[in-house]
Amino acid sequence: MIELKAIGKHYQMGEIKVKALDDINLEITKGEIVVLLGPSGSGKTTLLNLIGALDSPTAGEIDINGTRISKYKRSQQFKFRRNTIAFIFQTFNLFPTLSAFENVQYVAELSKIKESKKKSKDALEAVGLGGRIRHFPHQLSGGEQQRVAIARALVKESPIILADEPTGELDFKTGKQILELLVQQHGNGTTVLIVTHNREIARVSNRVVELHSGKVTSDGPPQNGKVPIDKLHW
Ligand SMILES: Nc1ncnc2c1ncn2[C@@H]1O[C@H](COP(=O)(O)OP(=O)(O)OP(=O)(O)O)[C@@H](O)[C@H]1O
Ligand SMILES: [Mg+2]
Repeated sequence: MIELKAIGKHYQMGEIKVKALDDINLEITKGEIVVLLGPSGSGKTTLLNLIGALDSPTAGEIDINGTRISKYKRSQQFKFRRNTIAFIFQTFNLFPTLSAFENVQYVAELSKIKESKKKSKDALEAVGLGGRIRHFPHQLSGGEQQRVAIARALVKESPIILADEPTGELDFKTGKQILELLVQQHGNGTTVLIVTHNREIARVSNRVVELHSGKVTSDGPPQNGKVPIDKLHW
């Protein structure tokens, strides 16, 4: 369903060429849950941005459901994202002037979700923020903002969820709840990609793709085996 062929992404910074991704080949099947594991700067966010058509590769091709998205123009990228991709950004990207509820409902309406009010409330309940729906982002803690970002991704009912360090700001207990929600989406047939730098969190999935300096260095089961979420410790 997601096919990356010889993907490269270079940034030209004055005289210096930054190779963020170099010759990435990857196939992800519909409904799979995959962890992208790697240290800071290894290219995880860059890779998610390419799969989610927020950016285009400088080399190689990306096909999603047989469509070559790496050739898309901006307007096509926008439509593709709206219909197919739910992002959970590393930096949340909430609208500062919209309440938690409005942040979620805005996305629901943009994606033409029916019963958007009810579904937005349900999504905020699911991430444990039923009591915070009128709060603006600046009135929420970092972890709460992250959970609004997650509710916003869930409400779209997209076939692909791209989650960039979704547990980064969360305490252990809330982090596990969020992983549960993501695994649940995978159980419903959604393709889920989770980015993390934490080897223990990677054990949530049976497939871990490791990135180092923009290259895939391994692809397979986690080092110490997959574990049920209630047995995870980090
Ligand atoms: N827009 C950009 N312009 C120039 N260089 C960039 C840009 N975005 C990323 N890079 C560089 O590409 C490399 C990969 O960055 P990326 O954000 O993908 O890493 P990451 O694995 O997500 O790291 P982290 O865990 O810190 O979020 C880094 O060296 C970064 O400095
Ligand atoms: Mg990143």
